Amino acid sequence: MDNTFIATTFDWDHRNPKDWQRFLNKVLRKVGIPAKITPPQPYMANVEIRMNLFHLLEQTLVHKVPGDVVELGCNAGDSTIVMRKILDELAPEKQLHAYDSFEGLPELKEADTNDAVYYAGHMAAGIELLTRKFGALGLKMPHTHKGWFEETVPKDLPEKICFAFFDGDLYESTKHILPHTYARMQPGAIGMIAVYYDEKLLPRKGLEGGYRSPGVKRAVDEFFADKPEKVSMLYACENACGYFRKQ
Ligand SMILES: C[S@@+](CC[C@H](N)C(=O)[O-])C[C@H]1O[C@@H](n2cnc3c(N)ncnc32)[C@H](O)[C@@H]1O
Repeated sequence: MDNTFIATTFDWDHRNPKDWQRFLNKVLRKVGIPAKITPPQPYMANVEIRMNLFHLLEQTLVHKVPGDVVELGCNAGDSTIVMRKILDELAPEKQLHAYDSFEGLPELKEADTNDAVYYAGHMAAGIELLTRKFGALGLKMPHTHKGWFEETVPKDLPEKICFAFFDGDLYESTKHILPHTYARMQPGAIGMIAVYYDEKLLPRKGLEGGYRSPGVKRAVDEFFADKPEKVSMLYACENACGYFRKQ
């Protein structure tokens, strides 16, 4: 299938400066200030992540890996929309499950407070926003599971999973969802992990805040220390992600 819908559904060109920003950049250059104004990222994830998502999910469908699709940490549903579109075209029989508190991040425990990136309630997006976005695009709603992961996972996970998008940002959230989901992933299933950074592979000087989620890498690396799968890192500009293929 083609994936141009990613560009037409989302603000693909968000990184291209507007005319007034170009003008200011010219002025900054002229007066010798080494700075550049760029538009902010308007979504939770950038277009490179969505491209990675497209290719990884599509692979599991083309290879007919059994099971359903889950997104753990769906926020306002922007990545869920991408997955819905792919499933509608390639595997409409598969169920799409989206999990979130819909109240943002939980109270942080020590492992996450020490990282000093996030706070309780950060990124709160209500379920009505996701519902509105799906409605505006005329898309079938996913199965939504509102609540803390500790309550909904594994209780509400499908028996078999062919693709999982892990996007919980925190050490504790990732540590909780990963083993339960992994256990239900079928051979050949792919797990994609948002904000999985290996600073050694890609040092990201000057990048701060929510683009960095060191707790995610810690939780993932601890879990895979005694597993046969390898987690690889995927480039995604200011974001980055990891993935593994279940053996
Ligand atoms: C970065 S956002 C997800 C972005 C989304 N996947 C996308 O691509 O647009 C992370 C989400 O994880 C949710 N989350 C993190 N830890 C959670 C927990 N323990 N229980 C429920 N939701 C959690 C937050 O509410 C937040 O909406």
